[in-house]
Amino acid sequence: MTTTTTTIQMAVRPWRLDCHVAAGDDQRAVDELRQSLSATPPTISPRWFYDDAGCALFERITGLAEYYQTRTEEALLDARMDAVIEAVHPTELVEIGSGAATKTRAILGAMARADGLHRYIPFDISPGAIARSASALAVAYPGLRVHGIAGDFSRHLGKIPRRQAGGTRLVAFLGSTLGNLEPAQRRLMVRRLARLLAPGDALLMGTDLAHDPAVLMRAYDDAPGVTAEFNRNIIRHINRAFEGDADPDAFIHEAIWNTRASRIEMHLRASRPIDWDLPGLDLRLHVPEGRTIRTEISCKFTLDGVAALYADAGLRLTTWDEDALGRYAISVAVKD
Ligand code: AVJ
Repeated sequence: MTTTTTTIQMAVRPWRLDCHVAAGDDQRAVDELRQSLSATPPTISPRWFYDDAGCALFERITGLAEYYQTRTEEALLDARMDAVIEAVHPTELVEIGSGAATKTRAILGAMARADGLHRYIPFDISPGAIARSASALAVAYPGLRVHGIAGDFSRHLGKIPRRQAGGTRLVAFLGSTLGNLEPAQRRLMVRRLARLLAPGDALLMGTDLAHDPAVLMRAYDDAPGVTAEFNRNIIRHINRAFEGDADPDAFIHEAIWNTRASRIEMHLRASRPIDWDLPGLDLRLHVPEGRTIRTEISCKFTLDGVAALYADAGLRLTTWDEDALGRYAISVAVKD
């Protein structure tokens, strides 16, 4: 009688993380914040939403009944990724703003089913988020090379490793994050993403669409008040980073629909005169009662608008899928 021992080799590769960000030393972002707070009208870049508390609040937003965006995008990815992967045949995925990499699973799953999954390059501002998702994905997909890049997408896209010779790259930019950028920056961003591609490679984007303003408004001013807390948390984050003393509760959350620019704007309105002392920023800010600080723009797109962005970057739109209600779209463009 013989006994057979089978050893299953789980080829979990050690993953790699290159970190180009460090807390507090991002001088350019700090200078930009001082400038934007001192400007008329004052604004704060949405990047300041995402400290740990802000990331947790955003996760809660994605589960709200009013915030249809995340679940609609996920449903579109689940329904359409196999067809997209079949058309593009990628061997590696570069994901910009990978976050918790929840949506990534739908893409990696489709790539694995098509036997094309070799490398995953998550790019995010949060090294912690990359570390958590990288280790989980390396276990879920034995043999997968994971090479994370922690950086700011306006400055560090050039740190993304060169594409594998003979392979095909898919770059994903999901979550309608593109909508946070002003038109000129938006074009620049798509051009930068296009630079990561060689002929045959593709760009996949998720974009929130212009539709019923009442539905859009509710998505940014939910009944339980989670978005209001998310908005006010930006004050808490800046207080902590720069020894500030403003009371977040002195600010009222406002979401408005700007028809002309086809965008939602989030503002914080001072309910009383506020003197905001920020020694760490070398700034004393006076916000008169009723004055607002704009914290976010979230542009809403059309098919023509997205196609024009791709064309401007030298790409050609090949796939457009929107949900039955016409609220959200995922699209693919290729480099010829
Ligand atoms: C993640 C930037 C796409 O604009 O809808 C959610 C952020 N702000 N609720 C968006 C957000 C308020 C979100 N993005």
